[in-house]
Amino acid sequence: MIQPVILSGGSGTRLWPLSRRDYPKQFLRLTGESSLLQLTLVRLDGLNTLPTIVIGNQAHRFLLAEQLRETGHAARIMLEPEGRNTAPAIGCAAWFALQGGDDPLLLVLPADHQIRDTAAFHASLKAAQPLAEAGYLVTFGVVPERAETGYGYLKCGAVVGEGFELERFVEKPDLSRAETYLKEGGYLWNGGIYMVRASIYLNALQRLQPGMHRACEQAVALAEEDLDFLRLDSQTFCQNPSDSIDYAVMEPLASIEGTEGVKGAAVVPLDAGWSDIGSFTALWEVSDKNDLGNATEGNVWTVDSRNLLVRAEHRLVATLGLDDLVIIETSDCVLVARRDQGQQIKTLMTGLEQAG
Ligand code: GDD
Ligand code: MG
Repeated sequence: MIQPVILSGGSGTRLWPLSRRDYPKQFLRLTGESSLLQLTLVRLDGLNTLPTIVIGNQAHRFLLAEQLRETGHAARIMLEPEGRNTAPAIGCAAWFALQGGDDPLLLVLPADHQIRDTAAFHASLKAAQPLAEAGYLVTFGVVPERAETGYGYLKCGAVVGEGFELERFVEKPDLSRAETYLKEGGYLWNGGIYMVRASIYLNALQRLQPGMHRACEQAVALAEEDLDFLRLDSQTFCQNPSDSIDYAVMEPLASIEGTEGVKGAAVVPLDAGWSDIGSFTALWEVSDKNDLGNATEGNVWTVDSRNLLVRAEHRLVATLGLDDLVIIETSDCVLVARRDQGQQIKTLMTGLEQAG
């Protein structure tokens, strides 16, 4: 049986000031009436799965509950006292999934994606299932379009089932390495979606991150039911180091697989109009644009301007003779940035925080 797990605890700093600490990206209605989180849940319609687990930060519990309620879908909400990135979140979901007495296949889904072709997405999941059942930690690979530094890169090895053995996993390489991978060929972008048996993920944690394995076990064992929420035990959960599945599990697992020949990770192609709306570059790409490449939302007037992403939430924004910029106007601040500086917004945020 498949147990969907939606990761909804990120802060999405790269879309600041659209996303805020108390209103991160997954809750934004970026591409229509539904938020990215809601679209992620609804995208599973038609698959035969257990009720979805949504795991996020306790600070967002009402937002989580309200947005899930709006979809009319039943979901279990697991709350983290503080973010520790994705490896512990998935660890807790795995321990929780085992409590039912079965060992389901976790289908781990980020809450910050757009996938245009749901049927093709479902087809990739079906292709992955036999591999996950056979004990592989399955990732989903997207054909790369540019030397993006915000993604993981998957090197495909020998054919296995409807996918490939994962020969190498490199999380967020620098620009020159990303360019090399594109030139070399044989690499796919990591879609950030995983399918793995709960016990296999926990075995990988035990081997690679024993501290996390223990902390997650205890956080789930001591978790408290509170209304619709399952609150992970704060003291034990916070003993987790902060690390993503990509760095903490995938990178080392892929290299162990290469050296010891044990069953490790596999990659299944995903050709479903996938986009991580993780930066303004990506948001501009998935947005509707006019003939001059301008994607605008709200009260915006552009003259002699090209390839802009402009969002006006409160005031009229007018541009004259500008190209390739992002302009985000909100009630309390305005961001003006080069559109290709998407990955630098995090640095800007850190600087702003330090400056107070
Ligand atoms: N529950 C929980 N707790 N969820 C979290 C946490 C956390 O502490 N931190 C992040 N998440 C959620 C985010 O909300 C998002 O839905 C998902 O986990 C992935 O986190 P991101 O922070 O968005 O990761 P990324 O985009 O930098 O990188 C990942 O996704 C890329 C593709 O979108 C990696 O898997 C890359 O390898 C991949 O290419
Ligand atoms: Mg992301």
